[in-house]
Amino acid sequence: MRIVKPPSAMQRIAGQWRRSSVRIGFVPTMGYLHEGHLSLVREARRRVGRSGKVVVSIYVNPTQFGPAEDLSRYPRDLARDCKLCREAGVDVVFVPTDAQMYPGKEAGRYSTYVVEETLSQQMEGASRPVHFRGVTTIVAKLFNIVLPDVAVFGAKDWQQAAIIKRMVANLNFPVKIIVAPTVRESDGVAMSSRNKYLIGDLRPQATVLGRAIKLVQQNVARKTVSAAKLREQVRQLIHKVPAARLDYVEFFDPDTLIPARTVGRGIHIALAVFVGKTRLIDNARL
Ligand code: PAJ
Repeated sequence: MRIVKPPSAMQRIAGQWRRSSVRIGFVPTMGYLHEGHLSLVREARRRVGRSGKVVVSIYVNPTQFGPAEDLSRYPRDLARDCKLCREAGVDVVFVPTDAQMYPGKEAGRYSTYVVEETLSQQMEGASRPVHFRGVTTIVAKLFNIVLPDVAVFGAKDWQQAAIIKRMVANLNFPVKIIVAPTVRESDGVAMSSRNKYLIGDLRPQATVLGRAIKLVQQNVARKTVSAAKLREQVRQLIHKVPAARLDYVEFFDPDTLIPARTVGRGIHIALAVFVGKTRLIDNARL
């Protein structure tokens, strides 16, 4: 396994692979890897086969964090990440620096961004105004550097995956986007690098997101229910958990993200909840 730092070196390697018809599978991450990330790596390997190459990028992208967010304390452990990647059969770990990804930014010479204008407005985009502009920009840049045939994203970040698919379709990126299922802990909590922040009695309270989804699932199993009523039920459930505060809960079409007024099977639920100071998200198809 190679660890590649400069984007120019990564682009050169990827270009050589492509010219010799080697398929490239790509998993972009911000590191502090867990079983959710590794499931995407395995999916990338399945897609490109043994003769293909799998690239994982590890880069905590500053432009997708708001000023009051956790950029400076985002968990990092590159040595452990590299060990996990090696064990998972990754061919290249791409680890660029801020200066390499955003050259000239301090001097005002970085001024090009990719903006998706519709799907990015709601949910995560409403709560985190600069977030998706940062995500689409960095993913577009990574696609231009890694030149993947296939890129794998997690269903955990459903809106992110929908926006990436839209960007790829709109801007003609020659890459196939795969969305792999959310990997959960045994108590149902979706795996996330940010779960590290949940110390002591905060961790068990994080199960409230999964419990809210279950509650809604049971409610709509045999009938349709108004989104307003379900939202109120979720609000009440979360209110009972001392450290939890609901940011949003939305019901929508899984492909278009268009909000649903009445909710039944096939509709998607997504929610964001603060547990202590940590903001957690989860989603599921009902
Ligand atoms: P990060 O949060 O590190 O996630 C990297 C990828 O892993 C994303 O596609 C995410 O959806 C997926 N993932 C995270 N937790 C998962 C879980 N429990 N099960 C399945 N997949 C999971 O998402 C980002 O980084 C960044 O926004 C990025 C796309 C790398 C751009 O900076």
